[in-house]
Amino acid sequence: MEDKIIDESKQGASLTIEAKPNNSRKLYIESYGCQMNFSDSEIVASILADQGYNTTQKLEDADLVLVNTCSIRDKAEQTVRKRLEKYNAVKRINPKMKVGVLGCMAERLKEKFLDEEKIVDMVVGPDAYKDIPNLLKEVEDGRDAVNVLLSKDETYGDVSPVRLNTNGINALVSITRGCDNMCTFCVVPFTRGRERSRDPKSILEEVHDLASKGYKEITLLGQNVDSYLWYGGGLKKEFKNASEMEKATATSFSNLLAMVAEAQPKMRIRFSTSNPQDMTEDVLHTMAKYPNICDYIHLPFQSGSTRILKEMNRQHTREEYMQLIDKILEIIPGCGISQDIITGFPTETEEDHQDTLSLMEYVQFYFGYMFKYSERPGTMAARKLEDDISEETKKRRLTEIVDAQRGHSASRTKQCLGKIMEVLIERESKKSDGDWSGRNQQSLVVVFPKENYQPGDFVMVKITDCTSATLIGEAVGYSKNQ
Ligand code: SAH
Ligand code: F3S
Repeated sequence: MEDKIIDESKQGASLTIEAKPNNSRKLYIESYGCQMNFSDSEIVASILADQGYNTTQKLEDADLVLVNTCSIRDKAEQTVRKRLEKYNAVKRINPKMKVGVLGCMAERLKEKFLDEEKIVDMVVGPDAYKDIPNLLKEVEDGRDAVNVLLSKDETYGDVSPVRLNTNGINALVSITRGCDNMCTFCVVPFTRGRERSRDPKSILEEVHDLASKGYKEITLLGQNVDSYLWYGGGLKKEFKNASEMEKATATSFSNLLAMVAEAQPKMRIRFSTSNPQDMTEDVLHTMAKYPNICDYIHLPFQSGSTRILKEMNRQHTREEYMQLIDKILEIIPGCGISQDIITGFPTETEEDHQDTLSLMEYVQFYFGYMFKYSERPGTMAARKLEDDISEETKKRRLTEIVDAQRGHSASRTKQCLGKIMEVLIERESKKSDGDWSGRNQQSLVVVFPKENYQPGDFVMVKITDCTSATLIGEAVGYSKNQ
């Protein structure tokens, strides 16, 4: 829970279980930011596996260091800059080591990176990863290597990811790239380009492959999964020009969910992120229909004030968000819902802030990711609105929001006391090597004594105790899904 609240830099050095025996070069790859970045790093590792690189977890051993970066808030960029200093220190000892910057910061800063950060040899934007083999040749020849071209159709659907940092149980499967929404605070549309959907055939192939390797849970990923639309390719906007036949046979997000759930009934299916403006009722009905689609929705609302939502260019009001929550609970009773909130957006008054707190009170989210507004260069908000809420006020409002969330999380976990629920075991508990840690369908963490159960097992657990973030219980047997 704590790291969900802070959540600035989920980080992971790489470990692969799919090392190719003949590969002699070593890649150290680190990822920051959203799940999409972690998923992209698996694509990059796959592209580099074909170039003779296996991953290493030891920075000092690496021939090539890649950092997949996040630009969403200034703090995320500062974290990466600190890591670059660390790589620089290692490079002084091992001058042959090459350093590449991937992802959103690469896209945002482009060539500037090579001038500002002298240790960077290569800069690659999110749509140019297939060009990395060529870029590495440039680097070897002593030339600057930059490719930050954004694409209208690259989905990496044909690249089979090398799973990094894997527990062999949960996997990320990307279904869309980019975002067309243009929320005024957000840098993503600039760094990740236009929205495009991936061919359902390649999604299903990837899911089947994961199932055959023993994975038990997948998360379908996109900046805005609800606007997934496949009718044979291209941008969503072009759909207007598609033929009637193409429209009639198009695959929507709800169709895709049903296809995946049906194809792998033993696998748990999750998805992220949903956008209130695009979430349709048929998605909710599909969720209700298939027991293996988890009853859980991550539904960012950003602000409880309709005026601020308008300034943010979010296409929903406070009331529409509340109606959507009611609809979700009507169709999927007991559905877990989590949030993203930005506090201190320009012009936000105390009244607007109270609107955010009262909306939280109404929904009683299971957990959330809460942030102070961070102005991002080039966004509409940065161009049109002054960042006029003081740091002190942002801090105070964030504390109030985080405290409210802690209370709601605590009441959500308390509601689980005495109940028996299905848990997928994911790993050993961080706090005790005698316990397993897993999650229930609503994405709450559940910890219980190991007994003879194993990671990857679906177990029924009776909840006997809880904190505000974690459920504690004991296993009462396998789930019927086991
Ligand atoms: N649709 C995306 C949203 C990506 S950004 C997704 O898949 O999650 C994740 C969250 O970061 C947003 O929901 C928003 O709450 C927060 N965020 C985005 N831009 C921000 C900014 N400029 N300052 C503070 N928080 C921001
Ligand atoms: Fe950003 Fe809004 Fe898209 S938050 S990722 S522009 S839905």
